[in-house]
Amino acid sequence: MAVIREVRVKAPAKINLSIDVLGRRPDGYHQVAMVMQTIDLFDQVTVSPGGPDRPVVLCGGCPEALPDAANLVYKTAVLVREKAGLTTGVAINLEKRIPVAAGLAGGSSDAAATMKAMNQLFSLGWSPEKMAAFLARLGSDIPFLVWGGTALATGRGELIHRLPPAPEFWVVLIKPPFGVATPRVYQALGANPLPDPPPWPGEMTPETVPAGTFTAKVIAALRQGSYPALLTALGNDLEPVTLKWHPELTGLKQRLVNLGCDRALMAGSGPTLIGLVAAEDRARDIAAQMAAETGHLAYRVMVARSRINSAKGDAYGTAACSGEAGHSAPFTGYCIRKPAGSD
Ligand code: C5P
Repeated sequence: MAVIREVRVKAPAKINLSIDVLGRRPDGYHQVAMVMQTIDLFDQVTVSPGGPDRPVVLCGGCPEALPDAANLVYKTAVLVREKAGLTTGVAINLEKRIPVAAGLAGGSSDAAATMKAMNQLFSLGWSPEKMAAFLARLGSDIPFLVWGGTALATGRGELIHRLPPAPEFWVVLIKPPFGVATPRVYQALGANPLPDPPPWPGEMTPETVPAGTFTAKVIAALRQGSYPALLTALGNDLEPVTLKWHPELTGLKQRLVNLGCDRALMAGSGPTLIGLVAAEDRARDIAAQMAAETGHLAYRVMVARSRINSAKGDAYGTAACSGEAGHSAPFTGYCIRKPAGSD
């Protein structure tokens, strides 16, 4: 039998079709109801067995990446290795395309992809549920990214219920040349404190999401399978905070609509703006125009398709490469740290 040499996993970005912040919890987090959607803008994580000298070796990434100890990929590999009792080292190559600190959950998705790749490479046999529950300690968005597709996220964002797939659409993304820190955005919102324990014990289901919220309206639109209804329902409670800090983004958001986007809003806590469009051609025309208008300011413009996950939650599936010549496509990203002796 061929020996698996490495496992490659795509790590998709996510956008929020809704974010409702329902109050501040006694543990300092905010109780949320959100509809999350993965899109086909992705990083790529490649994991292979490493040497015995260093337990986890990380290479690739991007110039803005956090140092190893603070990097979610690194933290995931260390924790999984410990939990699974692995004695082998782990070498990870991260090819970044998703901008960092952008509101697109790139780091969280890389963490979920690292877990999936290690699960396959080392035949750990962990279910998606086990992976999601294990990774929730590293970040509220990570459990959703183990699944991908379209889902309701509640609690602090880590409790996931799968939803009917969103109607297919295209997204024009505009990433400004600065980031925002999610904790600061939540803090600035000044949400009301919730009683202890919060009124939504543990799980909130798609049926019990409070009526009148963006999330309840988005769920209804998804059930109708209606793109026009989805457009009306979209909304993000965090958006006003980031727009207030960066007033120039309000003009850009309007510009997306003027150029032909069906709706525009902020991705997560921002600062990336997303414009929804039904047809690819129109999305590409709008993106070209936006790039011409903002390129000199170092804004980054991208186009992505909303993407639907399989029933198994593994549409971004793993690719195992085996045998002597089993190495995957060469790494093309910016390499900030090469593993010792890799030349
Ligand atoms: O869970 P994660 O580590 O991604 O969250 C980062 C920070 O964002 C938290 O420490 C908290 O300050 C804030 N947050 C929050 N409520 C949430 C999610 C995140 O207040 N539901």
